[in-house]
Amino acid sequence: MATNKNSYITELVEHYGRSRTSLMPILQGVIEKNNFISDHDMTDIARELDLSAAQVYGTATFYSFLDTEPRGEYIIRVCKTITCDMHGKRQIIQTIEDMLKIKAGETTPNKKFTLLETNCLGWCHEGPAMLINEKPFSGLTPEKVHDILSEYMHK
Ligand code: FES
Repeated sequence: MATNKNSYITELVEHYGRSRTSLMPILQGVIEKNNFISDHDMTDIARELDLSAAQVYGTATFYSFLDTEPRGEYIIRVCKTITCDMHGKRQIIQTIEDMLKIKAGETTPNKKFTLLETNCLGWCHEGPAMLINEKPFSGLTPEKVHDILSEYMHK
């Protein structure tokens, strides 16, 4: 069967291994590289990990990694799941929206930031939590978010 495999997928698979638990880090690796995951990438990952394309698609969708278009240079994913929600996720989103002048789901005109809401990131014990690309930030307050984002805005 002729395949036109992306070498970065092969590299990620070699690095993280072929087990099911490698799926998340591999998806994150693709995001780091391209800022989105194409259908082609998902099919390749599914083949490499011996999963169905639907399983890969399901995971990518659950974590809002499934962007159909290239996003900003920095993708901010704020956890919207219940623990973070109860600990003030709304104010976190509001602070980011005010600073970047975009709404959740949008990308800044200069293509530097995309703001997304996502499902539980596994930092519930220190919620609210968010990822900026692959970097987690937890125990967020509007003030903390302000400081973190100011730094990124000046990068
Ligand atoms: Fe937000 Fe788990 S509920 S990280």
